[in-house]
Amino acid sequence: MKIFAHRGASGAFPENTIAAFKEASYLPVYGVEFDVHMTADDELVVIHDEKINRTSTGKGYVKDKTLTELKSYDFGSWFSPDFTGETIPTLQEVLEVFCGTDHILNIELKSDIFPYEGMVEKVITNVTDMQMESRVVLSSFDHGAIQLAKKLAPSIETGALFMEVLVNPVDYIRNIPADALHVLFPAAIRPSMRELFESGIPVRTFTVNDENYARMLQQAGVEAIFTDYPEKMHALLKDHH
Ligand code: G3P
Ligand code: MG
Repeated sequence: MKIFAHRGASGAFPENTIAAFKEASYLPVYGVEFDVHMTADDELVVIHDEKINRTSTGKGYVKDKTLTELKSYDFGSWFSPDFTGETIPTLQEVLEVFCGTDHILNIELKSDIFPYEGMVEKVITNVTDMQMESRVVLSSFDHGAIQLAKKLAPSIETGALFMEVLVNPVDYIRNIPADALHVLFPAAIRPSMRELFESGIPVRTFTVNDENYARMLQQAGVEAIFTDYPEKMHALLKDHH
């Protein structure tokens, strides 16, 4: 079973920071996952929440601030004083960390709360400028965004994100169309999801930090997990990367 470092190596480093991505880039795992939002001046930044309150010294929505303003806040000290000085990374800065590695990069488009007009196009331009199309998976809870991504850049792999147990999941995924299903881990092993494992559509599950659940998902045929503890899971599952 493959392993994605969720928000970078976020168990031991502040999530979605260059420190967390550098650590992930040293690990022999399959890939890394991170989340993208858009600023008031249409720049792409890597952060999980719509607001910066939880993971920085600032307050407010990403969409209401310019990149310069966002860069003035500290995104490391909330996690530990050891990481004071970490700033919010741009998508470009994160892609550069992985330029010299062969990790797969799962870029999650966080356009499910705010629509971020033009975000899909900008992400694709960034990825193609870096010639990283073959190493990227674009995923989103906003299935319109991945539908558009597939139309604009058919060679880039996509994943539809779900929290729910689906009925007829194969039909749904093929209809978007998406290449893979990224699903909350308890839903992945419910009976109505079984048809996915026979269909050849990769099923990837988040966020799996428990070793027993990881083993269960491996046995069920899950292709990959997203985990905050990629090093520990690599040792446990013997990820063949
Ligand atoms: O992409 C998998 C997972 O990251 C989706 O949930 O909330 O951690 O972005 P979330
Ligand atoms: Mg995510």
